[in-house]
Formats: sequence, structure tokens, C-alpha cells
Amino acid sequence: MPAKPLPKAELHLHIEGTLEPELAFALAERNGVALPYATTAELRSAYSFTDLQSFLDLYYALMAVLRTEDDFAELADAYLTRAAAQGVRHAEIFFDPQAHTARGVPIGTVIEGLARALDDSERRYGIGTRLIMCFLRDESADSALETFEAARPYLHRICAVGLDSAEVGNPPSKFREVFRRAAEAGLHRVAHAGEEGPAEYITEALDVLGVERIDHGLRCLEDPALVERLARERVPLTVCPLSNVRLRCVDRLADHPLRAMLEAGLLVTVNSDDPSYFGGYVDDNFTAIRDALRLDDETLRLLAANSFHAAFLDDRTRRDYLAEVAAHTF
Ligand code: ADE
Ligand code: ZN
Repeated sequence: MPAKPLPKAELHLHIEGTLEPELAFALAERNGVALPYATTAELRSAYSFTDLQSFLDLYYALMAVLRTEDDFAELADAYLTRAAAQGVRHAEIFFDPQAHTARGVPIGTVIEGLARALDDSERRYGIGTRLIMCFLRDESADSALETFEAARPYLHRICAVGLDSAEVGNPPSKFREVFRRAAEAGLHRVAHAGEEGPAEYITEALDVLGVERIDHGLRCLEDPALVERLARERVPLTVCPLSNVRLRCVDRLADHPLRAMLEAGLLVTVNSDDPSYFGGYVDDNFTAIRDALRLDDETLRLLAANSFHAAFLDDRTRRDYLAEVAAHTF
């Protein structure tokens, strides 16, 4: 019998990035949306990216198939089914409301659809869940504020706000006010920073937006004083190895700085980002980075424990998950 996957929390996962070609075609047919690809194989062959923007172009285009509450519930159910098989016990899930409201899909349709699947997740899949609402940093600060205000009736469903999309030229400070409002409303805060953008964006995300975790954060390595600060303050970095290679932030998995990050004392977690596009879900990321960097079992256990330390959990639930990690046999 194959070994059970290591129990883990997934903290960096865009639900729209779990849209598999088969579901995209099924939803396109159901909703009468024309796709510029004849087959799932033809669509898959378009998954060859040169940088973040080349991926984002396809990622946003394919979202055209997501229209109804049922579509969003089905998308989340499909993810949770796969996540359960990958040992995920807790998932903090990003969504991009502006990518849907810009197409005329009401924000309530998105949130209620996702929440329907998430509400049943503990019972059906054994996975605790949270929702993280991301703002598109290549849209205006006003658009982020309008989105936050439109989401107010649904804030009880949302655990945190985040910041994603095209990083370079869109610094965290652009979103100071919306993050201030989110903090005032009692939400946690995270942000993508240091994926393609410079190390200064990581510092800005911490100091201006007050974020509690950094998504990606790879480029912190260019600033030794920042590395020292991140380690000292135990700021989690949600690293996504397969994504980093597919988007050419790192040439080959064997060159990935994850081991160097751990050796620098950083609180690193392993995640999948957009698994349908990048060749694997979270346990696939664990396996790929283990093989490429020859990580031993105790390092894998540390990465899994880090995922629960970095999660937005109450102390008792965190302790229970950490006990599961400690009891895991490889
Ligand atoms: N949106 C979805 N995936 C993303 C990534 N890797 N970076 C920035 N924005 C994203
Ligand atoms: Zn991401």
C-alpha cells in the first residue's frame, strides 16, 4: 500500500488556478462560452510560460467559464477532492473577486458558491478551510476599495485579505488604505511580494500593509538584513517550488533556494499556487522539491509543521495538527 501523504496545511492556493482543462470545457459547454481551444490537449499545450504575465493572460482568459454559484462550488469541490488525496488537513484559499466582477459576475455569487463547498469541507474531506480575498495589484487602488466595500456583507466568510497579480511596478504601498480597512474589520493580511518584484516590496508589505505572511518572498535573499529580520520575526514565507520553475523565477528545481532559506532560519512552507497550470498539487510540490534537493524526512516534517505554525488557526487546533505531523511515519 502506498504511504499516506504527510499531513499539511495549504496556505498559497488560488482557487481559480485549480481549474483543470476538463472542468473548463464542461463549464464552457454548460454556460455557452466559446474557448479558443478545440481540445483539452490543445489547451494544455498552451501551458508554457515565459514569466508571470504570460501565465496571468491565460489564467484570466479561462475564468470566462466561471459564471454561476454552482460553477464556483464545483471548482472548490474539485480542488478539495484532490487536496484530501494530497494530505491537506487545512486550506487557506485565495480568490480574485475583481477577475469575476469585471465580467459581470456579482461578488456574492463568487463568495456564496465557494462558501457552499467550503462549509461542507470538514465533513466531506476532513479539511478545515479559510477564504482569503485578494486584490489585483495591477488594478487601481480605488477598484480594490470598491471591491472591499462590495464584500462587506460577506466578511464573516472571509478570514484575510491578500494581494496578487502582476507585481513589478505595483508596490504594496498602493494598497495602504484598503489594507487599513481590512485590519479595522478584524481581518488577517497577507501579500504576494518578492516573486518577480524586488526585496523592498517585502519590507513595504510588512511595514505599510502590516501583513502577517509573505507569499513567495524568494527575492528576500537579495537583502541579508531583510532575511535576518524575517527570521527573527518568524514571518512565514509561502513558497511554491513548481510555480517558481514554470514562471521562470528559478531556472531548475535543483537551483531552488528553499534549502538555503531553511538554513537561514526562515519559516518556509511549501505550497502549490496554481496547481492546474504548474504541474502539481501540494504533495506533488513536496515530492518534487524533496527529490531535487534531496531533502530528508525530518526536513519534510519541519516543512509540514511550519505550514501549521503559519496558518490562521486557534492554538488547540494547531496543536492537534502538529501532533499528527509528529506521529506521521514515512
Ligand atoms: N495569481 C495567481 N497566481 C499568481 C502568482 N503566482 N503571482 C501573482 N499573482 C497570481
Ligand atoms: Zn500566488
